[in-house]
Amino acid sequence: MTEAIDHYAVFGNPISHSKSPQIHAMFAEQTNQSLVYSAELAEIGKFDQALNDFMQHNGKGINVTVPFKEDAWHCATKHSKRAQRAGAVNTLKLEDNGDLFGDTTDGVGLVTDLIQNHHIQIKDKDVLIIGAGGAVRGVLEALLEQHPASLLVANRTSTKAVQLAKDFADLGNIKGCGLDEINDASFDIVINGTSASLQGELPQLPETIFRQNACSYDMMYAAKATPFMQWSARCGANNVIDGLGMLVEQAAESFFIWRGLRPETKSVIENIRTSLR
Ligand code: ATR
Repeated sequence: MTEAIDHYAVFGNPISHSKSPQIHAMFAEQTNQSLVYSAELAEIGKFDQALNDFMQHNGKGINVTVPFKEDAWHCATKHSKRAQRAGAVNTLKLEDNGDLFGDTTDGVGLVTDLIQNHHIQIKDKDVLIIGAGGAVRGVLEALLEQHPASLLVANRTSTKAVQLAKDFADLGNIKGCGLDEINDASFDIVINGTSASLQGELPQLPETIFRQNACSYDMMYAAKATPFMQWSARCGANNVIDGLGMLVEQAAESFFIWRGLRPETKSVIENIRTSLR
């Protein structure tokens, strides 16, 4: 009898736009791993069922994207420390003893992209992150681990930013405020973690937030610069980056969790960039 091939997938709704199958196919080829990786559309409210069905067909692990990261957290029988705190899971792995291990690799993805791919130092820098939803919650621990001088979370709804900062206050110098409370403060690194770019919108921000040589990072990516990236360039940000590298780096960390191998990411980022055009 031939051994069934290991099956992985990304679950989301919508999911047809996902680049994850392409990325993981490249990782698997590079590292000579025999596996299949597909994109799976799950119905809202039926994530558990979709996950169970999938795992019964030689599923070994999944990635999870919007809107199922909290559902995935609840399905995990064991959590990494970072997933425990984030309250969200983007990677599930079936372990040999039957446990479903939940982890979150978005933070590693962001930090790796900033530091290794773009040579941007976070240590001792003043960092502003905009937004206070799940996407931002998922990266705060990884950012604080790099010891920025300060990390300000600013959100349209200020109460959410203040609460989020409180939840992570034991890990470093982090504060929360409303977008309208930033005033004339300026930063070395500004990260857009809102979903505004998805609607082609721009968070309302003072034009003075970028210091000299500042970096602007949009956690979203698209074929052309997002509204936030265009605005950042107009406001004088020196280094304007989109989230494609973060996407590939979080995928690489998930691949490592599943297969114990670290794929090379630079050529994969370039390949996906070309396919966006
Ligand atoms: P995600 O899981 O992608 O983080 P979310 O939890 O729905 O999604 O959070 C979306 C974030 O984007 C929130 O911080 C939201 O601000 P509010 O909390 O005030 O709603 C932010 N956001 C979305 N559209 C925005 C816009 N046009 N301007 C500013 N912030 C916006």
